[in-house]
Amino acid sequence: MKVAITGPDGLLGTELVRECIAAGATVDPLLESECDVTDADALRRRLGRVSPELVIHAAAYTDVDGAEADPDRAYAVNAFGTFHVCRSAAAVGARVVYVSTDFVFDGSLGRPYATDDEPRPLQVYGRTKLAGELYVQGHPPGGIVVRTGSLFGPGGAGFPDRLCARAAEGGSLTVVNDRWCSPTYAPDLAKAVVALAGKADSGVFHLTNVGSVTWSDYALRLMDGLGLEVEVLPVSAKEYASPAPRPARVELDRSAAEGLGVAMRPWDEALAEYLDRCGDRLRRSAGREPDTPSNDGVTGE
Ligand SMILES: NC(=O)c1ccc[n+]([C@@H]2O[C@H](COP(=O)([O-])OP(=O)(O)OC[C@H]3O[C@@H](n4cnc5c(N)ncnc54)[C@H](OP(=O)(O)O)[C@@H]3O)[C@@H](O)[C@H]2O)c1
Repeated sequence: MKVAITGPDGLLGTELVRECIAAGATVDPLLESECDVTDADALRRRLGRVSPELVIHAAAYTDVDGAEADPDRAYAVNAFGTFHVCRSAAAVGARVVYVSTDFVFDGSLGRPYATDDEPRPLQVYGRTKLAGELYVQGHPPGGIVVRTGSLFGPGGAGFPDRLCARAAEGGSLTVVNDRWCSPTYAPDLAKAVVALAGKADSGVFHLTNVGSVTWSDYALRLMDGLGLEVEVLPVSAKEYASPAPRPARVELDRSAAEGLGVAMRPWDEALAEYLDRCGDRLRRSAGREPDTPSNDGVTGE
């Protein structure tokens, strides 16, 4: 199968490329420098030339706070970019898998969100991603929407990387204790997305690693797992103001995907694997010397 992947050098896209190749697909990576999703003509030409059967659309404007300051850019990439991807894919009869976010929900429900619960994004980023979802759901050859949670992994700057970079600046780490997340390991998500694409033609699915945690407990688990003695100071979201409002707690109900046999493991198991694989790099970025010779970059492939 021929698969085109947008955002192939992103945190998730890196893993999607690896996973598709491992599954035997021929992959066309649509780098932003060669094929900007805001450029409808470039997309049409590229997909017309390659003629993929499937487009996995992982490119996005992912700066949640930045989107508040530059909504035009966020809409251009996440909403209209997704429209262009869908139109170009439809022209060659390709299905689309679109990666969306738990930030389409406001977090007020009090139970895990089912795929058909009403989205109510609190910030520009969530609204732009939701607009993208609507285009994918109307995509004629079939479109899958996969909503996910907070990503971490070797291919980009997730929370562990950002936290370690902050630890390198010295002092304690201030982290919110009244907002929750579902940490999701990009390699696990990529595997699940590829499995799902083989089992469904269309629909909305939720895929995160199992479980959720407050951001401050997540930070404590990270520092502990890395053996770093850095103080984590829990604060309320009110005390730690950010430009974009964020939901207090969104857990996604994964039963639609699980019903097709696509299940994910607990987030802390995935985190342990990540720390085993990339702990030395994270410790170095926190300004600490690794205890043992580095294995960073070893992918087993
Ligand atoms: N990260 C999270 O915690 C999280 C949580 C929930 C959902 N998601 C969703 O998961 C997907 C993957 O996220 P990620 O964390 O892997 O993102 P990421 O690391 O920020 O990567 C985004 C990718 O999109 C590309 N891109 C940005 N603007 C583009 C444009 N105009 N045309 C073409 N490519 C463009 C970037 O290319 P360059 O590197 O060349 O700029 C990069 O490859 C996104 O749809 C995101 O909304 C992410």
